[in-house]
Amino acid sequence: MGIRIIGTGRCIPDKILNNDDLERMVDTSDEWIVTRTGIKERHIAAPEQSTSDLAAEAAKKALENAGITPDMIDMIIVSTITADHVFPCTAALVQQKIGAKKCTCFDTSAACSGLLYAFNAAYGMMASPLKYKRVLVIGAEKMSTLVDWSDRSTCVLFGDGAAAFVLENDENPDNPDFYVAGEVMADGSVADLLIVPAGGSAMPATHETVENKMHCIKMGGPKTFQLAVISMVSACRNVLEKAGLSPEDVVWAIPHQANRRIIDAVANKLGIPEKVYLNVDRYGNTSSASIGICLDELNRSGKIKRGDLILAASFGAGLTWAAMLIRW
Ligand code: ACO
Repeated sequence: MGIRIIGTGRCIPDKILNNDDLERMVDTSDEWIVTRTGIKERHIAAPEQSTSDLAAEAAKKALENAGITPDMIDMIIVSTITADHVFPCTAALVQQKIGAKKCTCFDTSAACSGLLYAFNAAYGMMASPLKYKRVLVIGAEKMSTLVDWSDRSTCVLFGDGAAAFVLENDENPDNPDFYVAGEVMADGSVADLLIVPAGGSAMPATHETVENKMHCIKMGGPKTFQLAVISMVSACRNVLEKAGLSPEDVVWAIPHQANRRIIDAVANKLGIPEKVYLNVDRYGNTSSASIGICLDELNRSGKIKRGDLILAASFGAGLTWAAMLIRW
C-alpha cells in the first residue's frame, strides 16, 4: 500500500526542572530519584502554554520535515490525557493553530500507550475504504497540570512535551507500510491503579475535590512497575512472533520512558539492552509524547535509516499497553 512516516517533529518546553529544584520542594534527593527512576531533569510548560500549543508546535515541525503544507492534511489525531478542555477535542484546536483546512479531528485517551493507540487508529483508517491520504498523529501532554507538587512519590516522575508525525499513503505497492505488526491492549480491572479521580462525570469538580487534590495523579507505584514489565515484554514477544522476526532483527527498541529500571528490566528480558534508546534522564515521563520524542530525536540525528526495524512498547493508565513494530 505504501503507508509511511514522512515527517517528524517535537516540542520541548524551555523551562527545566531538575532534581535539585525538587529537593527544595519536597522531601527527596537527587540520589533517590536517579537511583529509583533514572530521571535527572524534566521540562515544564509555561502557564500560558497549553497542550494544543505544544502539539501545534510539534506538528508544524513535522509538516516542515515532511515538506508538505497544512492544507494537505486530511486527519489529525491527538493522543493526550491533558486535553486543553473537556471539549472541544485538542485535535480541532491544533487544526486551527497550524492552519489546516477541513479535516477529521479527534483525540485518543489511552495515557502513556496513547501514541501507539493513535498510530493504530490512523493506520487502520488509512488502509480502510475511508482512504485517508495524509494524517497527523500527535502525542502531546502538559503532565505538570496533573501533578500534585507536594506528593514526592509522583511529582518527580513527570514532564511536559509533544511529538508529531506525518503519515502518508503514496499508494505505491513497492513501498512497504511502516506498520509491520502490533498489539494494542487494555485491562480495566486495574483502572484504579493509576487515576486522576476528579474532574469527570464520576466526580465533578467541587471545592472539596480541589482541596483534597483529587484532580491530581494517584498511583500505585510498585504494582504499576510490576505490570509494566510483564505487559511490555509479552506484547513485544507477541508482536515479533506475529511478524516472524526475532529480537536480533530489531535495530532500535523504544520503550515508554517512564522509569529507567522498568526499561532495563524489559530490555534484559528481551535480550536487547544494547538496542534501547533512552532519554528518560532528560524528560521524565511525558506520557503520550514519550515514544514520539524518542523517534523524532532518532530521526533528526540520522540514527535511523529507511528500512530499519524499530520496536516500540508502552504501558499506562487503564491499564493500557501496546507494542508496535515499525519499518522506517
Ligand atoms: N524521594 C524519596 N523517597 C521517596 C520518594 C521520593 N521522591 N518517593 C517515594 N519515596 C519513598 C517511599 O515513601 C517509601 O518509603 P518507606 O519505605 O519509608 O515507606 C520508599 O521511598 C520506597 O517507595 P516505593 O514506592 O516502594 O519505591 P519504588 O522503588 O517502587 O519506586 C516508583 C517508586 C519510582 C514510583 C516506582 O514504583 C515506579 O516507577 N513505578 C512505576 C510508575 C510508572 O511508571 N507510572 C506510569 C504512570 S504513566 C500514566 O499512565 C499516567
